[in-house]
Amino acid sequence: FEHTVLSGKRVVITAGPTREPLDPVRYISNHSSGKMGYALAEAAADAGASVKLVSGPVMLPVPPRVECVQVETAEEMLAATLDGIEACDLFIAAAAVADYRPVAIAEHKIKKGSEEIMELRLVKNPDIVATVAGLETGRPFTVGFAAETRDVIDYARSKLARKRLDLIVANDVSNPEIGFNSDDNAVTLVSAEGETGLPQTSKRQLARQLIEQIAQHYLKSTS
Ligand code: PMT
Repeated sequence: FEHTVLSGKRVVITAGPTREPLDPVRYISNHSSGKMGYALAEAAADAGASVKLVSGPVMLPVPPRVECVQVETAEEMLAATLDGIEACDLFIAAAAVADYRPVAIAEHKIKKGSEEIMELRLVKNPDIVATVAGLETGRPFTVGFAAETRDVIDYARSKLARKRLDLIVANDVSNPEIGFNSDDNAVTLVSAEGETGLPQTSKRQLARQLIEQIAQHYLKSTS
């Protein structure tokens, strides 16, 4: 592992889930544990980068030499990500951001009524990685993830194009041994030119391989 591939570079990484409140005691969220994003932050710091981790609520220790900003909602994650993004070289979006949030947050705990069916109204959240990739000035090299349960590579390729990303990490989350909340992962790194498969290993190991590969693509793009 080349310990200095990212020395002097600034990297921002999102990790974990977001929580979208319904009322003071309830929220909508997902099973992301933050393990993948935290492992990437550790690997990027080990590769010499200065790393800012923007994290949703998780139960993990912050890796050494990593600055961590804790957030809850997608809107907070967007604001924390954009803060200083123009000074950053590389952005990696590993967070599982809620695509929608409740239209309104009830001021008081929602009471159980007599109705059998209750409907929630949701509104689309901002897309953090697409916002960063669309910046007109100070756009960093931008890497997304694609969590898919079928047609993994095809969907990843369409997200790569639609969100205007430089690279996307395709993650099959239908297999419980890899993906959400597992200790292991297996992914395919997808670029406009091709694909690199990274077979199942610990998220820590995989993160080191991903940082190495991403750094090569990034350095090529700047030379
Ligand atoms: O946290 P772990 O338990 O370790 O699990 C890791 C993981 C499975 C969460 C991770 O490997 C992963 O795949 N992260 C992306 C999860 C996801 O929400 O994927 P998506 O296909 O819905 O989103 C595509 C990309 O857009 C992602 O880079 C996501 O961060 C980004 N996005 C999505 C919606 C949104 N509003 N803003 C975003 O930035």
